[in-house]
Amino acid sequence: MLELKNICVEISSDAVSKENEGKNVVRDTSLCIESGSVSVLMGPNGSGKSTLVNALLGHPSYRVSSGILELDGVDITNLPTEKKAHLGIFLSMQNVPKVGGLTLATFLHKAYVATHQTDISVLEFYVNLRDKAKLFSINPDLLDRPLTAGLSGGEKKLSEVLQLAALQPKYAILDEIDSGVDIDALHTVFKAIDALKKEGTGFLIISHHPSLLDHLAPEHVYVMSGGNMVRKGGRELAEEIIKHGFCDVIQCSLSDTCSGKCG
Ligand SMILES: Nc1ncnc2c1ncn2[C@@H]1O[C@H](COP(=O)(O)OP(=O)(O)OP(=O)(O)O)[C@@H](O)[C@H]1O
Ligand SMILES: [Mg+2]
Repeated sequence: MLELKNICVEISSDAVSKENEGKNVVRDTSLCIESGSVSVLMGPNGSGKSTLVNALLGHPSYRVSSGILELDGVDITNLPTEKKAHLGIFLSMQNVPKVGGLTLATFLHKAYVATHQTDISVLEFYVNLRDKAKLFSINPDLLDRPLTAGLSGGEKKLSEVLQLAALQPKYAILDEIDSGVDIDALHTVFKAIDALKKEGTGFLIISHHPSLLDHLAPEHVYVMSGGNMVRKGGRELAEEIIKHGFCDVIQCSLSDTCSGKCG
């Protein structure tokens, strides 16, 4: 289980703009991601969702100022990003940075070899990847394009889906992987998440898309507002959000939201 216990995040001294250095953006936030399950994190714009997950994976603009990130009971809060990736943690960022100079296929081969301790040849891996792309109805030619430079918004998200399918992480944190994709691509995203969930990947999905709640039937739903975790629940909370929107849902916050336990 990947568990966030009372995490607080502040803007670090490495952030591009210095004027907000030390500002607390996320406070006392707890949630868990279980293997083979889907947890969804929702909340109004600017509530701290991306800051939380970026900080956990070591984004230089943020600092986890207190709290613990635990993997199966082991504190991994301060491990470097690369080590967290080796442990099987995957983050798809909301704003995917532009990276050129290597193709998606080359990047994935290197990442797969590094994270799965295998010496699979480039050719065998490439053939498998093309099959995987076709299985999820993703154009396999994406594998021969630069990692993200020059890709459209939707293509970048599909590239992330291919990365997910290829690397098969233990825990995947997907920050708005469904934004900017067309309706067919949206089904590709759902299909890939569903397939990996069945193989044991635990997901934390950040989304504004109510249809995701219908398609993925998340086990846990969390709501953030103003940097705090204000609600947590199951399917019934998802239905409450679909029916009433965030405003009503946020007003009746629960008192046990930061207990660090699921359910
Ligand atoms: N590097 C930074 N410098 C200053 N403020 C920041 C920085 N990063 C985030 N913030 C602020 O922290 C707050 C939370 O931002 P964050 O991107 O985490 O929100 P979000 O919940 O992901 O929103 P959205 O749904 O729009 O993606 C916002 O008010 C944002 O302006
Ligand atoms: Mg965000």
